[in-house]
Amino acid sequence: MQLISDLSQWRELRSKLKGSVGFVPTMGALHEGHLSLLRKSVAENEHTVLSIFLNATQFNNSDDLTNYPSSVEEDLALARAVGVDVILLPDYAQVYPDDFRFQIHEEVFSKELCGSDRPGHFTGVLTVVFKLLNLVQPEKAYFGEKDYQQYLLIKDMCAALFLPTEIVGCDTLRETDGLAMSSRNRHLDPLARKLAGRFNQVLCQAQSDQEATQTLEKLGCSVGYIKTQYGRRFGAVEIATKNGSVRLIDNLVPKGPQVI
Ligand code: PAJ
Repeated sequence: MQLISDLSQWRELRSKLKGSVGFVPTMGALHEGHLSLLRKSVAENEHTVLSIFLNATQFNNSDDLTNYPSSVEEDLALARAVGVDVILLPDYAQVYPDDFRFQIHEEVFSKELCGSDRPGHFTGVLTVVFKLLNLVQPEKAYFGEKDYQQYLLIKDMCAALFLPTEIVGCDTLRETDGLAMSSRNRHLDPLARKLAGRFNQVLCQAQSDQEATQTLEKLGCSVGYIKTQYGRRFGAVEIATKNGSVRLIDNLVPKGPQVI
């Protein structure tokens, strides 16, 4: 496994690689959800590239960025164990030689759901993913359906801008109580962790978005949004912990009928 932080070194290596390249972009603090994407890429491609880059431009809240978990040593060991060939670990200056002067804006869906909750978030996501896809030039890139809005926006961006990479959506990996795995779950204390498990259950079982919102608020969550769209119920909540709050998102096909 090669560890590369210098992107010119990577570009030289890329020009010599023969065979298909699969790519999994992440912000690190790897968990089983990330590993499931990597395993799929390893199974489907001759080379698998993982990027670990905490993308500051997609954070609209500086505390959220500062507190984002990081565990690079563990990440490297996990990546090696699943068969990753190359890890890209660039810094901000390497990825943003333009200091974010050039940006990818999407004007419709990126303003909804997480986009209305976190203004500018998807501009940061789309810009970094566009840069990374250009750098890595993968045949396939793997994204989790846990971030379904992100997945759809990236898929649409590739089609709109004629990027040749196939965007592959992957199932959400969950804990046994249904909580979607997330790097942020590390910040949940035991009480908050218990409440976090209810988030998925309520999203799944409520008869309407309104009922889900009311139930989650009664349980003590601060609800960002609950909205059913494209046959999926999307939700974002903040859960208080001893050291601040943790933002969780999820989406699923609900069991109950949607009464509007
Ligand atoms: P990050 O949150 O690190 O997630 C990296 C990838 O792992 C994303 O495609 C995400 O959807 C997927 N993922 C996270 N949790 C998952 C789970 N429980 N099951 C399946 N897949 C899961 O998403 C980002 O980073 C960033 O926005 C990024 C695309 C890297 C751009 O900076």
